[in-house]
This record gives sequence, structure tokens and C-alpha cells, in this order.
Amino acid sequence: MGTGSTLGLIQQKLASARSVTVLTGAGISADSGVPTFRGADGLWRNFRAEDLATPEAFKRDPRLVWEWYNWRRELIATKRPNPAHDAVASMEHRFDQFWLITQNVDGLHRDAGSRKLSEIHGNIWMVRCTQCRCVTDNRDVPIAILPLCSNCGGLLRPHIVWFGESLAEQDLEASEAALESSDLCLIIGTSGLVYPAAGFGAIAKQAGAFIVEINLDATAQSSLVDVALHGRAKDIVPLLLQA
Ligand code: OAD
Repeated sequence: MGTGSTLGLIQQKLASARSVTVLTGAGISADSGVPTFRGADGLWRNFRAEDLATPEAFKRDPRLVWEWYNWRRELIATKRPNPAHDAVASMEHRFDQFWLITQNVDGLHRDAGSRKLSEIHGNIWMVRCTQCRCVTDNRDVPIAILPLCSNCGGLLRPHIVWFGESLAEQDLEASEAALESSDLCLIIGTSGLVYPAAGFGAIAKQAGAFIVEINLDATAQSSLVDVALHGRAKDIVPLLLQA
């Protein structure tokens, strides 16, 4: 099937879909200038996740971890949603049922207007107290290092799911419910290597959904998808909605 007819098929599927779930990863924000994790210039090529994105690393050296997150906050603060984020945001008004599951912590889906979403790895613009556990918005750039809780004086940490930590129960439940009821699932810009999100396509597939992958390259989950479109998310995702 050529790219044109593949696109037409997906447009048709979307036109008749009742329940749509979208799963996104760092690739959708790459077009906004946010670095991915595993690509040529990916963050995990230059930094060790064990030193920066684990509860043990934070216990050992909270200053180092906060300096890294402050650097990422400074970078992300300059970025804006791109046409792929905008197209995904518009989808929540098009379908009877819609849910967006994002692994991204950059907040760009919210900035684009998405509200029906689970940010399963957290949000870089939120902080959580290590003492009283309260979660608050924090847009300070730069953020004070070390930042302290205004309620109890405890040390704040990024509200991010680090390696070795579990997803919030409500995010997992909302994601699984959406995947199990979807008749179409778009998987955009993720390498499909980090669980549980790496298993989400299989859940949708088992539920009978038509699965579309949009990515620069083939990925770990390409073998399970019905159709793969290779290219930049910002070019492809808006096209899907042009019926
Ligand atoms: P990765 O960096 O592992 O993968 C990014 C994917 O996006 C790759 O498959 C690229 O081919 C693809 N890609 C890059 N640019 C693209 C573009 N312009 N259009 C479409 N696709 C493009 O990122 P994730 O899969 O999101 O965890 O990584 C999953 C998790 O691992 C992240 O959420 C993060 C990381 O450790 C936390 O932050 C907790």
C-alpha cells in the first residue's frame, strides 16, 4: 500500500471511530525542540538515568538531581506546542470517547489545550513534598535549589515517575480503561521500550482496536501495529484529520 492510500485508510478509520486513544512519547515534542531520550542526541546518551532519575539518586544527591531538572525546565520553558500537539488536542472534541496517554513530562499537551489526558510519568511543572506529599504547580525558572514546601518546610522533589517507581493507580486505571474500549489507537513518537506504556499497544490490540504508529523509524512495537507511518509527527498527525 502506498503512503497516500495508507493515509486515506487511516482517515477513513478515524472518520468512523467512536472511541480513540492516543499514546505519545518524546518524539511528538521533538518537533518543538525538546530532546528525546534515546535518539542520537537523546538525553540518555549524555546522562546516566541512574544518577538523575531514580529515588536512590535523589536521596544520594538531591542538589544534582534538582540542577538537572532545573536545566530541563529552563529548556522546556522556551518551547511551544507544535501542530501535532494541536491536532491531538482537537481530537478530544471529535470522538464520543477519547483519551490521551502521554509519557511526556513537558506539559506541551496541556499547553495545546488537551484536558482528557493521563500524564503517566508526571509533569515537570509540578512538585511533590517528600514530607507531607502535597502536589503543587511550580513554574519557577530557575527553581530554588533546594526547593522547600510552603506548607511544612519539607524538601520538594519533581512530580515525576522515576525508574523503579510505579505509575499512579488512577493513571494506570484510566489508561487501561481507555485502551480496552478503543476502536482506534494512535501511537506517536515513542520507542516502546519503557513499561508499562510499552505494553499499552498490545492491550488495545487485544481489545480489537486498529493500531497506527507514527514515528521517524520502526520501533520495538512496530510488529503489532496495523499501519506504520514514518515521518515527523508534526507533518503527519495533522494530515490524519483532513478527511
Ligand atoms: P525515546 O527517546 O525512547 O523515543 C523517542 C521516539 O520518538 C523514537 O522512537 C524516535 O524514533 C521517535 N521520534 C523522534 N523524533 C520524532 C519526530 N519528529 N516525529 C515522530 N517520531 C519521532 O522516548 P520515549 O519513548 O518517550 O521517562 O521514552 C519513554 C520514557 O523513557 C520517557 O517518558 C522517559 C524516558 O526515560 C521519564 O521521563 C520518566
